[in-house]
Amino acid sequence: MKRRFFGAIFATLAAAMLLGVAASAQNAAVPAGNGADIPGLGEIMTLQQLRHIKLWFAGRAGNWPLADYEVGELNEGFEDVNKLLGGDTVEKMVGAPIKALQKAIDDKNRAAFMTAFDSLSAGCNDCHHTLDHAFIVIQRPSLLPYSDQVFEPQKQ
Ligand code: HEC
Repeated sequence: MKRRFFGAIFATLAAAMLLGVAASAQNAAVPAGNGADIPGLGEIMTLQQLRHIKLWFAGRAGNWPLADYEVGELNEGFEDVNKLLGGDTVEKMVGAPIKALQKAIDDKNRAAFMTAFDSLSAGCNDCHHTLDHAFIVIQRPSLLPYSDQVFEPQKQ
């Protein structure tokens, strides 16, 4: 009985320590005093990264309804970024590539999609450069981490 009790205390302490480590790792990712670190921006970017990956695999598979959905989500994410940043940075960096992507998707044009996708990634990187985060570099994804989602086109 006593052993089990101490076991439970030990497990709780270990969990608390793990949480502490996770929390400090998160804090370390957001250096204080950097003008470009706007609360919430990092979180939106994590979602943008997910959509960027899904968009690629949807377009590559020729799944245009899914690609259309993902580019819409990306666009909404950038609208939120725009509210946080103000000015015209978002439009300047990714406005044209997003429009080109939307057109390629509407036209179901895979080659145009791929070109537009690469200019979007270049836009992501231009902005990271401009806002002091040049070390965050985006490229075409090579691996689909979402094995629980089907990217092949479905019969509508
Ligand atoms: C308007 C400028 C801007 C654009 C456009 C932009 N980013 Fe970012 N991104 C940032 C900034 C600034 C940060 C750093 C945010 C922070 O931590 O405060 C960032 C951070 C990130 C991160 C790091 C998040 C993390 O916690 O690991 C990823 C990944 C990322 N961006 C992906 C993208 C992708 C993908 C695109 C394009 C589809 C993109 N970004 C477009 C400004 C931008």
